[in-house]
Amino acid sequence: MAEVVVLGSAEEAGALVADAIWRLVDSDPAPVLGVATGSTPLVVYRALAATRGGRDLSGLRAFALDEYVGLSPDHPQSYRRTLLTEFAEPLGLDVGQVVVPDGDPARLPSAGAAFEQALAEAGGVDLQLLGIGTDGHIGFNEPGSSLASRTRVKTLTEQTRRDNARFFDSLENVPIHCVTQGLGTILDARHLVLLAFGAAKAAAVAAAVEGPVSASCPASIIQFHPHVTVVLDAEAAGELANLRYYQGVWERKPGWQGI
Ligand code: F6R
Repeated sequence: MAEVVVLGSAEEAGALVADAIWRLVDSDPAPVLGVATGSTPLVVYRALAATRGGRDLSGLRAFALDEYVGLSPDHPQSYRRTLLTEFAEPLGLDVGQVVVPDGDPARLPSAGAAFEQALAEAGGVDLQLLGIGTDGHIGFNEPGSSLASRTRVKTLTEQTRRDNARFFDSLENVPIHCVTQGLGTILDARHLVLLAFGAAKAAAVAAAVEGPVSASCPASIIQFHPHVTVVLDAEAAGELANLRYYQGVWERKPGWQGI
């Protein structure tokens, strides 16, 4: 089952995950990191920036999970721009080190295949950061997504558009379509790290970790992956029925050195 780590705060979670990323980076001259947008991973990006030190990050590549369709790459809410501002620039990475699905309407027919090809050429993702939607989405694989899907165009649900309206002037300005890594694409990463904070995520987390594997909760696909770490605060862990089995187990594993 997934390794479930419940911590006292989002900041502690950010520090733990940043530590895991640095162990990857320090052991591999060409690490491939899967990055997510939204509010959840910001604590990780801040912890990375605070602990970067003098590391040479020139070999690092980062691949985004998804992008809105129809926002210019420099639109402040495009995921390309967000990742540059929140993740790449604080770490001193070049623009070319971050690969984001192409949401330009003119190139949509080939956007998925082009992204999959770039990912394959980079050797696949070593560590994939994931947030989770209140409807159980990962990436923008909304309920009903094929469990074997690859990068492609999807339609955002009304709930996701409402959840994300806080980043836009109004609900009408939230794009309707996106290009997202598929669930099959995400499953190819060698280590999945799903983070969730706050009570609003508790039901989705419980469905993902303990529910049946089902397209109704796309995040439940993580149960098929051999190396998953779910990092939560107490509120996001609040609906896990088996929490007593998970809590504290991770720290007692022989030789445990972090996720
Ligand atoms: C973002 C993404 C989404 C978010 C999810 C949670 O790249 O793929 O799955 O991770 O919508 O968003 P936040 O973190 O804003 O609650």
